[in-house]
Amino acid sequence: MADVLVVGSGAREHIFAQTFLKSPHVNQVFVAPGNPGMQTPGITPVALTTIPDLVKFAQDKAIALTFVGAEKLLAEGLVDAFEAANLPVFGPTQAAAQLESSKAFTKKLLHDYKIPTAMSQTTHSLPQAQSVLAQHAYPVVIKLDGLALGKGVHICQTAQEANTVINAIYTKYADAVLVIEDYLEGVEYSIFSFVGPKQVVHTPVAQDHKRLLDHDKGPNTGGMGAYSPVRWLSEADIQTAINQLVMPVLSAMEAEALPFRGVLYTGVMQTAQGPKVIEYNVRFGDPEAQVVLPQLQSDLFENLLDLQQGRPTQMHWQNQDVYLGVTLAAPGYPEQQLQNLAIPTLPNDIQIDYAGVTKVENTLVSRGGRVLTAVSHDKTATEAQAHVYAALNQRADDFIYRRDIGQQAVAFEKMEGL
Ligand code: AMP
Ligand code: GLY
Repeated sequence: MADVLVVGSGAREHIFAQTFLKSPHVNQVFVAPGNPGMQTPGITPVALTTIPDLVKFAQDKAIALTFVGAEKLLAEGLVDAFEAANLPVFGPTQAAAQLESSKAFTKKLLHDYKIPTAMSQTTHSLPQAQSVLAQHAYPVVIKLDGLALGKGVHICQTAQEANTVINAIYTKYADAVLVIEDYLEGVEYSIFSFVGPKQVVHTPVAQDHKRLLDHDKGPNTGGMGAYSPVRWLSEADIQTAINQLVMPVLSAMEAEALPFRGVLYTGVMQTAQGPKVIEYNVRFGDPEAQVVLPQLQSDLFENLLDLQQGRPTQMHWQNQDVYLGVTLAAPGYPEQQLQNLAIPTLPNDIQIDYAGVTKVENTLVSRGGRVLTAVSHDKTATEAQAHVYAALNQRADDFIYRRDIGQQAVAFEKMEGL
């Protein structure tokens, strides 16, 4: 029997831990640092956060596979350190993680290899940014280079708004690198691919809801809810996006001697001119993982170990139901958040993946921004949505959550008479 290590502390890591634990080969899943909401038989949080401590733990416990949830430690070289110590790990090296950690690197790669994306320019100073903006069409998108946790993107309608944004950025970070790009009109969804040296496996696609408020208003967040599969997209559209956006970037990374391994997250904008890349991430999405992983019918541990070691593998996914997840966040998210709110008890048929929670006198209370994801599934998005909101209604009033997760799928089903 094998022990697995999942690195991270959010709802995404919680669902990964639960999915690994379903494998008959897995004895126990450690989550570093995890959170007290995860502690159930077979899942053990361990208070470790640094790369050397994680390497030592994996050695001491003879961990059979390590999986990393968030981008930060990947960008800091966790995989390089594990590989140097001969420890099995599923993820990208520090060099390959640039696909997420540097927007400037990725934009150049996309332009060099002619992979469809918004036209962009990279600037290194305030005067340079001002001169690009003076020539630009509006709306314009301004992105701060480096890991910004979903908060580094500004969509500006006017030159005045754009200049306010760049002035604020250069006042705060004198050496900021900005990517200034065309605004893409279209619908957004995400493709997730498990990438091994010999094989790439795609999961069902998902749609995330990044803005804080209903009807896509308010600031960008890490993600307020998601659903999967996305039935308003045709199989042909998804295949086109895989062929034009996913596989070519993997080939480009090979050609640049930066072979990519691990989870590739492709943020797609489906435009009138076809699919275009909004961004790549080098890890699974949160909350998308919470609605995609429960659809897996094969053995995640076996699948990822096979992929990592270059053996052929088959991942099987359900396609009967739509899985829909709603993020509960503490009031004030994404800025200052209220702490120590009691976590609601939800009906047993709701999947709960915990994130920003802690234990005070044996009860779970909120500790961070996103507190948990509540997930339900049903034959249609309409039914799954009704089910999850019925569970949250009156129980989750102390928290903020969007009331319209899955609305695009619900509207599609209505139109199709489903
Ligand atoms: P990113 O951090 O690059 O994923 O951007 C966050 C969000 O900003 C995306 O999910 C999109 O909704 C939006 N966005 C980013 N780039 C563009 C673009 N070029 N055109 C339109 N919307 C964009
Ligand atoms: N849900 C968006 C992300 O994980 O980046």
